[in-house]
Amino acid sequence: MSFPLNRTARIAVFASGRGSNLDAILNAYPHDNALANVVLIVSNNPDAGALEKARAHNIDTFVHPFPGRKKDPGGEKRQAFEQQVQQQLELFGVDLVCLAGFMRIFSAAFNARWQGRMLNIHPSLLPLFKGLHPQRQALAAGVSESGCTVHFVDAGVDTGPVVLQRSVPVFAEDDEAALSARILLKEHEAYPEAIRLVLEGQVRYPSLFENAGEQ
Ligand code: GRF
Repeated sequence: MSFPLNRTARIAVFASGRGSNLDAILNAYPHDNALANVVLIVSNNPDAGALEKARAHNIDTFVHPFPGRKKDPGGEKRQAFEQQVQQQLELFGVDLVCLAGFMRIFSAAFNARWQGRMLNIHPSLLPLFKGLHPQRQALAAGVSESGCTVHFVDAGVDTGPVVLQRSVPVFAEDDEAALSARILLKEHEAYPEAIRLVLEGQVRYPSLFENAGEQ
């Protein structure tokens, strides 16, 4: 399957927390939008604010525990999560997965299965400041500019091909909260725009053939 589709794309948003990016996506793609529809919200956290937003919009939710690596060293619980979620994604006919503050890392197999059809948003200008607390990392590094990145998910953490970036200035008086808030406003513009670029086929996951050609 590749984009563009000749029908409305079906999106699943995965969120662990408050869900402001989910809100931005829902505002950009309301239920009668021709390009995309959010059909499922997935979370590992029953208390996620994102789930309330989903219910307010009458969107189906799927919640399943997915402990971090310390509590699941063998990865059995992750495997169970991925199996259950894969079933739901198939049941709902999902075309595109959008990770929006989803605080867990998938197995290589799950990532491979959704390659080119799974996006993530990260609040830094990747490849700078991967992983946790990127805004804090940006302040510690003393950069004068930061921002956000929407990228395809690949086998690494915050490493996949970039779809879109938006930058913001970093001011000397910024603390983590101030910088995070400035970046978040850009995230809310960037994610819907990146979804459009992918669904319209304007930005694609680089194919193996293209990679081979670059060598
Ligand atoms: C955002 O900053 C996102 O970039 C990061 O986690 C945060 C989620 O915020 N991955 P929200 O739940 O969308 O409000």
